[in-house]
Amino acid sequence: MTSPELEAIRQRLPGWLKASSPCSDRGKVASYIPELSKAPHDALGITLLSAQGESVTAGDCGLRFTMQSISKVFTLILALMDNGEETVFGKVGMEPTGDNFNSMLKLELVRPGIPFNPMINAGAITVSSLIRGNSPYEKSGRILQFLKELSGNADLEYDMGVYRSESDTGNLNRSIAFFLKENGVLGGDVEEVLEVYFRHCSIVVDCADLARMGLVLACSGLDPLTGQTLIPRRYVQIAKTFMTTCGMYNASGEFAIQVGLPAKSGVSGGILTFVPGRYGIGVVGPALNDKGNSYAGVHLLQALSREMDWSMF
Ligand code: DON
Repeated sequence: MTSPELEAIRQRLPGWLKASSPCSDRGKVASYIPELSKAPHDALGITLLSAQGESVTAGDCGLRFTMQSISKVFTLILALMDNGEETVFGKVGMEPTGDNFNSMLKLELVRPGIPFNPMINAGAITVSSLIRGNSPYEKSGRILQFLKELSGNADLEYDMGVYRSESDTGNLNRSIAFFLKENGVLGGDVEEVLEVYFRHCSIVVDCADLARMGLVLACSGLDPLTGQTLIPRRYVQIAKTFMTTCGMYNASGEFAIQVGLPAKSGVSGGILTFVPGRYGIGVVGPALNDKGNSYAGVHLLQALSREMDWSMF
């Protein structure tokens, strides 16, 4: 039987979505990765999945898009599972930057020149270098397999068009990676590390996939729908904290005040968030604000969290 809360959401969600939708007019679809500019500017969709396995959807929830930075949460978790906390946090810090996600400013300004956190590009590229495997192919395969398990979707794949588009034009990420190599932060071959990074950014999902992954985080690493523990609780705790402090980049403080849930955004317009212990949530709205977060998606989550009184704070 549907819970009264979920039933209330089911009834009111289309109205909230309609109210948030015009926000896309103020946003811009990302175009610095040329292939991403093909996304539908006005799309907005959401899927909520409860720990009891019931879902509520609205709008363009079936739209397929690449994970982009949302994948950074899960590469961090896999790197922690592969290496433990001491190794990972010897290479990447735990602090928000207040800068854009692709900034390399602080790498030079603040000694010892390790990335401030694993959610910014510099940190996530470093994390990609820590994934176990004998080749970029094997490392990428392990990341994809992990995401298949978390989403319960064995068909997850890369969008090779987006992958190539980013790999062909990713000069800023290349600069960051070579700078990290020069500082002794990045081990191995720079191009191979970037291949792993660009690949996990190009994994294709829809809102239901994100909601399912979010539900596992909401349940501290346990997939409540299969009863399987997929992530050690401590690593979910770490990921959840980074999502809260750095997941929406230099808009994380505002998001914490306005929505109050752990979240991670991507430049394709996706947002993964969750209500601890209760719901996984996937949102997509490709038109972005100036911080690189979905304009309408953030607006919709704000309405949902306020109306349902979901803020953790
Ligand atoms: O490295 C990049 O720039 C992209 N592959 C990912 C950036 C991203 O999603 C930032 N999120 N808002």
